[in-house]
Amino acid sequence: MKKFTIPMLLIGAIALCGVAMSPLTATADDDEAGGKCFRTKFDTKLTSDACAKGGQGEAKKAWKAFVAEAKKTEPTIACKSCHTKLGPEFPLAADGLEHYKKLGGK
Ligand code: HEC
Repeated sequence: MKKFTIPMLLIGAIALCGVAMSPLTATADDDEAGGKCFRTKFDTKLTSDACAKGGQGEAKKAWKAFVAEAKKTEPTIACKSCHTKLGPEFPLAADGLEHYKKLGGK
């Protein structure tokens, strides 16, 4: 009986580690998504939905998808067509919102 004690403990410890590690991994993924959006009031459904779903990381993904689609109507469009900076607050150019609406955005 005594022979089995150590391996059993080891298996127990490994299993515990697995359980303890999984919430840690989930937190790391959230951090990668970039946390909350800077804006708290939104003029666009695209951004408010994405921010509610997954914060700024999700908003970036949503905007990338929008830009990919918008390239069909405006081949030269880029993030900087509407944003003066691509960084933490994503400030808009004067006509950023208008530009978005012209492209049919909501
Ligand atoms: C056609 C104009 C336009 C383009 C192109 C555009 N954006 Fe935006 N973006 C906006 C507008 C307008 C808002 C503000 C939305 C609101 O108030 O609901 C915004 C908001 C955002 C936000 C939310 C920031 C926050 O935390 O409040 C992110 C992130 C963002 N854009 C990223 C991007 C990225 C990345 C690209 C390029 C792939 C891009 N945008 C291209 C117009 C644009």
